[in-house]
Amino acid sequence: MKLVFFGPPGAGKGTIAGKLAADRALPHVSTGELFRTAIKDHTPLGIQITDMMDSGALVPDSLTVEVVRKRLEQDDARGGFVLDGFPRTIPQADALSRTSDLSLVLNLIVGDETLIARLSGRRVCVSCGFNYHIKFLPPKKTDVCDRCQGTLMQRKDDTEVSIRRRLDVYQTQTEPLIEYYRDKGLIADVDGSPPPDDVYAAVLEVLGI
Ligand code: AP5
Repeated sequence: MKLVFFGPPGAGKGTIAGKLAADRALPHVSTGELFRTAIKDHTPLGIQITDMMDSGALVPDSLTVEVVRKRLEQDDARGGFVLDGFPRTIPQADALSRTSDLSLVLNLIVGDETLIARLSGRRVCVSCGFNYHIKFLPPKKTDVCDRCQGTLMQRKDDTEVSIRRRLDVYQTQTEPLIEYYRDKGLIADVDGSPPPDDVYAAVLEVLGI
């Protein structure tokens, strides 16, 4: 299976893609995570993209396509993958189509008010990267990861200003991909607004699993 999870910031791409990838033993390839790791490790790429990421702008296509190309060339991605956050522009989608025949693009649909509530309440473990939400998926102990006892922090791009920018960027640059993939018969719309377990069950149904 070569899948793409598509949807606006906060739609639940990471949450659902992560679970599906773990359950099906497929690599979960999140461009956001790859970029955040580069920033954390102070690599040349990380230094170059820090300000863009924090402000909610997209990383240039040339850099993004190269990062994904290298990741998908690794052995674990040969049998399939679950992409999350890529592609986000038409040039990225064109580049992906030259190297991979996608099985399906799962388009998670969630309204703006819910997206803002999810992003502003998200907390991420600095050690293992697991995502929580102060209301919808709270940790047992405030600001402590249930899994590894790491500290939970707010992402730098989860500020009000950055969230608004990300939603604008999604509408102008990323949303046109829905028609791009619909024309290819590859889009499956999924209501992303119910609780995560229900969204996951709907995704499995679409995939016939
Ligand atoms: P990225 O990390 O991809 O961020 P995003 O697309 O803005 O998506 P998010 O991670 O914010 O949300 P999500 O849909 O994964 O939701 P999540 O599951 O976390 O990208 C970050 C930045 O990197 C970009 O702004 C850009 O700068 C750069 N970048 C990345 N890819 C790029 C590309 N291809 N090209 C160029 N630049 C790129 O859930 C959110 C919260 O809601 C969590 O707290 C979660 O617990 C909760 N939640 C999830 N599902 C549910 C549910 N069903 N019910 C209730 N709560 C839920």
